[in-house]
Amino acid sequence: MTPEEKFDPKIVGFFCTWCSYTAADLAGTQRLEVQPSIHIIRMLCSGRMDPLILIRALLRGADGVLLGGCHPGDCHYQVGNYHARRRFVMINRILESLSFDPQRARMAWMGASEGERVSSVVEEFTETVSGLGPNPTKDEIFL
Ligand code: FES
Repeated sequence: MTPEEKFDPKIVGFFCTWCSYTAADLAGTQRLEVQPSIHIIRMLCSGRMDPLILIRALLRGADGVLLGGCHPGDCHYQVGNYHARRRFVMINRILESLSFDPQRARMAWMGASEGERVSSVVEEFTETVSGLGPNPTKDEIFL
């Protein structure tokens, strides 16, 4: 990439269907601007996120991963987001051991009525990942 080329990060979002995905949908309905850097994958609950899937997304070249869930106390499966939060601590440690900057992974609570929050979280995270530059493993084959 030459210095003149603009870096457009690719971010994979794993959003729970009940809150964060609904919020992303709402952002679209409200015609809010959401950075095109994010590619959202819908999942039932953030608590269902297998850490390996998230890490694999980075190993396969994603510049950042964003896990979206319901606010604490709002998970439709009671405690799925609490499980996700605990796993996320572990995920950060694994990323560090793989020499990834843990800032490439973020978790955010986004309620079903918070389309604007989706827009702002994605914008903030896109800026963070842009500042980190391209995924250093992008040209390497890992799996
Ligand atoms: Fe949204 Fe569990 S259903 S985090």
